[in-house]
Amino acid sequence: MNTLKILVLHGPNLNLLGTREPAHYGASTLHDINQQLTALAGTLHIDIDNYQSNHEGDLVDRIHQAVTDAVDGIVINPAAYTHTSIALRDALLAANIPFVEVHLSNVHKREAFRHKSMLADAAIGVVAGFGATSYTMALNGINQQLRNT
Ligand code: DQA
Repeated sequence: MNTLKILVLHGPNLNLLGTREPAHYGASTLHDINQQLTALAGTLHIDIDNYQSNHEGDLVDRIHQAVTDAVDGIVINPAAYTHTSIALRDALLAANIPFVEVHLSNVHKREAFRHKSMLADAAIGVVAGFGATSYTMALNGINQQLRNT
C-alpha cells in the first residue's frame, strides 16, 4: 500500500484543550489528540504532520508549504477562523489539496455565528460534535476518499 501524506492543522486556542471549556471541547489535550491521530496514521500507512497555530497567517503559510511538500490531504480544525477566514479559504483553494473540516463540538447546536463556515462548501466533508473522535473520523474519512475505497 502506498503511503499518503496528511497534514493536520489546528487553529487558535486549541493548544488550550484539556482545560478550555471542557463542556464544549472535552477533557483530551491537543497532545492526546495528536497521539491518537499518529497511532491511527500508523495503521493506515499515513505519514502525518500535526501543526497548531494561534495565528491566521501561520496557518496560511503552512497550507502553502503543503503544496511544496506534496501533501495528499489536509484535516483542519480552523477553530474560530472557520467562521471568519476568507484567507484560509483562499489558501486551501489555491493549494487545491482535498481537505476535511473538523470540529470537536457540534457547532450547529451553538451560537448562530458558529453555524456559518467559510470553508465547508469547499471541503470533502465536515465532522463535528464527536469530541476528539471527530479527528479520527476525519482521518479515516479522508483516507478512504483519497484511496477511493
Ligand atoms: C471549534 C468550534 C469553533 O466555533 C470554536 O471557535 C473553536 C473550536 C470546535 O472544534 O468545536 O475554537 O472549531
